[in-house]
Formats: sequence, structure tokens, C-alpha cells
Amino acid sequence: MIISLIAAISKNHVIGLGDRIPWHIPEDFKYFKEKTLGKPIIFGRATFESIHKMKGTNPNTGSALPKRKNIIITRNDGYRADDCIICASLDDAINAAKNYVDDTQEIMICGGGQIYTQAMDIVDRMYITIIDQDYDGDVFFPQWDDDKWTLTSSDRQAGYAFNIYDRVNK
Ligand SMILES: NC(=O)c1ccc[n+]([C@@H]2O[C@H](COP(=O)([O-])OP(=O)(O)OC[C@H]3O[C@@H](n4cnc5c(N)ncnc54)[C@H](OP(=O)(O)O)[C@@H]3O)[C@@H](O)[C@H]2O)c1
Repeated sequence: MIISLIAAISKNHVIGLGDRIPWHIPEDFKYFKEKTLGKPIIFGRATFESIHKMKGTNPNTGSALPKRKNIIITRNDGYRADDCIICASLDDAINAAKNYVDDTQEIMICGGGQIYTQAMDIVDRMYITIIDQDYDGDVFFPQWDDDKWTLTSSDRQAGYAFNIYDRVNK
């Protein structure tokens, strides 16, 4: 089993503006779907609700993204969403996700900023879509230490690249 995170980040490390992502790249949504389908996905309560808002659906009715076990991290112990697992910390969320994978499978951490920051020292792999321009925003992806990561693959497209980084010596 490996633990990965997946994010799209601008040149200036923006990932969000308020409760939304400040760009629209359908190919990146498609890539995200390909990489997460069938896997347990972990996100902070704010990202879970922002996906529902984007889709015009109600968080109480359950999964933000179908065909993936949705695991939500919140400090609110009364939080409920049908078919989702609610956890009080990232560690609890990872332990819950382990029930849905075998040794060959992958747990995906899907943001947002608070959760990525807590996940940086835990994850084995990062799927990062690097967007070639700066954006205004108020939620950022954490800086990472290049010595700790190796660029395993880079699929360059017009205006962005799908990069995969693996942790060195873990
Ligand atoms: N570009 C991308 O790839 C990407 C991906 C995902 C999200 N985003 C963007 O990121 C932004 C949201 O990120 P965010 O940093 O504001 O919020 P977030 O990380 O999605 O969620 C934060 C919430 O998670 C819960 N939480 C965080 N740490 C916790 C802990 N240690 N224990 C228990 N609960 C904890 C808290 O929920 P409670 O307040 O309920 O306690 C907190 O308010 C949005 O703009 C979204 O569009 C971008």
C-alpha cells in the first residue's frame, strides 16, 4: 500500500481562492478522476464541501465524488455525510482508508491546503499538476524540499504538466 497526494498548483503555489480552485482545466479533472477512481480519497471538510458546492449538491447527502470511498477530516464530532467516513485527524483517516485497500493499492489525499501541509511528511508519492502561470489565491500548497523528492515522470501539456514525484529513500 502506498499513500499519495494529488494536487494542481500554480507557478506561485496557489491551490485555492476562497472555497474554489481559481482555474478551469477539464483535462486536469479527467486526470484527477483517472488517478483516484476506485481508491479511498481523503479530504478536509472544507474541500469536501467545496466540491459539493461546485456540483450544486448537498454535503449531507453523502459522497462528493462517486465510486471512491470519501473520508472527511473534521474537528466537528457531530459532522455527518451519508456513505462517507468522518475522522478527527489525518492519522485516523489513513487508518480508516487502510480498510479499503490491500498491499498493492493506493490511498489518495486530495487536499486542501491544511491537509496537504499535514500530509507532506507522510506521503510516499505526489501527483502534482504544475500550471505554468501565476494565479491570485489565498490557499497555498506547501513548499517541498527537492532533496527529498525525485521527479519520476512528467507529462508535458500546453500550459501545464502532470508530474509525479516519489520520496527519496523512504
Ligand atoms: N488545487 C487543488 O488541487 C486543490 C485540491 C483540494 C482543495 N483545493 C482548494 O483548497 C481550499 C480548501 O483548503 P483549506 O486549507 O481551506 O481547507 P481543507 O484542508 O480542505 O479543510 C480544512 C478543514 O479540515 C479540518 N481539519 C484540518 N486539520 C484537521 C485536524 N488536524 N484534525 C481535525 N480536522 C482537521 C477542519 O475542519 P472543521 O472546520 O470542520 O473542523 C478544517 O477546517 C479550497 O480553495 C479548495 O478549492 C485545491
